[in-house]
Amino acid sequence: MLKKIEQAAAYIKAQGVESPQIGIVLGTGLGNLALKIEAEHIIDYADIPNFPVSTVESHSGKLIYGKLSGKKVIAMQGRFHYYEGYSGEEITFPIRVFKNLGIEKLLISNAAGTVNPDFKKGTLMLIDDHINMIPDNPLRGKNLDGLGPRFPDMSQPYDADMNGKLKAIAKELEITLHEGVYTPVAGPNLETRAEYRYLRKIGSDAVGMSTAPEVIVANHMGIPCCAVSVLTDECDPDNLQPVSIAEILEIAGRAEKDLTKLYEELIKRL
Ligand code: HPA
Repeated sequence: MLKKIEQAAAYIKAQGVESPQIGIVLGTGLGNLALKIEAEHIIDYADIPNFPVSTVESHSGKLIYGKLSGKKVIAMQGRFHYYEGYSGEEITFPIRVFKNLGIEKLLISNAAGTVNPDFKKGTLMLIDDHINMIPDNPLRGKNLDGLGPRFPDMSQPYDADMNGKLKAIAKELEITLHEGVYTPVAGPNLETRAEYRYLRKIGSDAVGMSTAPEVIVANHMGIPCCAVSVLTDECDPDNLQPVSIAEILEIAGRAEKDLTKLYEELIKRL
């Protein structure tokens, strides 16, 4: 894998990408933060050696490199999901490459359903912790000791400093930012009523299909990371409405304005 990482990073560097400070992963329906980047280079995933190619239409599959809030950033517009058929290792390959390029911090976003009855759709949730229910662990297999330890600590997987800053910014900008536990499942189907009930009982506030693999790998390599969910649907098992992906994308698009403001300001303060 080391060789594959180096090949991908070498290609990206050859396109003119120079020591990005911050990596960003944009979730479903959340590509617009990328429009705020003063883009210097845009690279299609399909052109990068060893990079997986996104199979979902709502994910456009590009790396965007440039300046955002005065910092050099590299953003993934479109991420990889377990439900697309990728392994944990494949899903997180871009994060390995980002580390090789030199990122110091990782900012993640996703769309999620809320199982906490106090959290309404269209609001944001800062992920404070997760319960990973995606069956394949990205660290499964021989450990690459040069990248990180065999048994990485996960007592504080989301960086306390970035989370503190995000909470302060949300207060200043009067953006509702809940805080809670995110549980990613395999997908691609949404959950049954009994599953939502179960997820709430085990301590989840939001459910989605991503993020934990990237966070595990970031922790493995010692990259401080943070993640914000855009809550797109209310998963109340006693009054469950069928959700459409179109509606999820529509709500993600609206709430994204707040997410964009939060992350722009966070990057300024890093
Ligand atoms: N379940 C899983 N993933 C999701 C959901 C959901 O309810 N909403 C948005 N992503």
